[in-house]
Amino acid sequence: MHKSVQDILKMKKEGRKISVITSYDYTLASLCDRAGIDVLLVGDSAGMVMLGYENTIPVTMDQMCMFTEAVSRGRTNSLLVADLPFMSYQVNIDDAIKNSGRLIKAGADAVKLEGGTTMAETISAIVDVGIPVMGHIGLQPQTTMLSQGYKVQGKTKDTALKLIDDAKELEEAGVFSIALEMVSHEVAEIISETVNVPTIGIGSGVGCDGQVLVIQDLLGMYDKLKPKFVKRYMNLSEDIVESVANYKKDIELGIFPGQENWFSMEPEELKKLREEIGR
Ligand code: KIV
Repeated sequence: MHKSVQDILKMKKEGRKISVITSYDYTLASLCDRAGIDVLLVGDSAGMVMLGYENTIPVTMDQMCMFTEAVSRGRTNSLLVADLPFMSYQVNIDDAIKNSGRLIKAGADAVKLEGGTTMAETISAIVDVGIPVMGHIGLQPQTTMLSQGYKVQGKTKDTALKLIDDAKELEEAGVFSIALEMVSHEVAEIISETVNVPTIGIGSGVGCDGQVLVIQDLLGMYDKLKPKFVKRYMNLSEDIVESVANYKKDIELGIFPGQENWFSMEPEELKKLREEIGR
């Protein structure tokens, strides 16, 4: 039985840190699940790291459902949260419920959406139909990026107060956790102490109840951006380029495939064949 939303809430109560990693495909999802990650997040960052878009704006519901289905086939133990993409929940509450339902049918246990107080009513409506919601405040790539670009949030007293208000309202609306993206570490710590639901930080310091990173960032596979908050545990892109170049060289030199990589006929059958075709 995989982890539940209740298990994640309990981790905060018990003071245990929550590990979250983004996942978009079967193979990496099963490896992250095997590594014991608490939550797999099918983030709309898929648009950038999987589909090569400049940002998350073009991501569609169909794409998110496809990624979610693939990840759900790879997970056994982790909780699975999927992002509602841009414009799948902002137009009206009916859309938000319908699209949350699509992600749940695709295999998610919960959905995540961006926004503070303005999203409280939408969140309540989704939670009311029985779908758990993770909030997402601070830098909100679907919209903050349009107006401000990558910018640390909550650096002044007023913006900090607004973030604290947002977090409280999301909690009241019924979220089971809140992602805090690029929030100054002081404010992230205050929010984490203020709300009872777990906070999941990305670029928001160690005071959060859990941490999330994009898997391509931590494996060193995505070279377009390297935000300060990313810790690379590997430099996989170099290993991949080197391995693929070696494969190309082996093909050119006739080293690959080797005997161990091919299949043979029965000698008797080969003899008969040669006799028949005269070679
Ligand atoms: O889309 C995503 O990957 C996210 C996380 C970075 C929080 O929303």
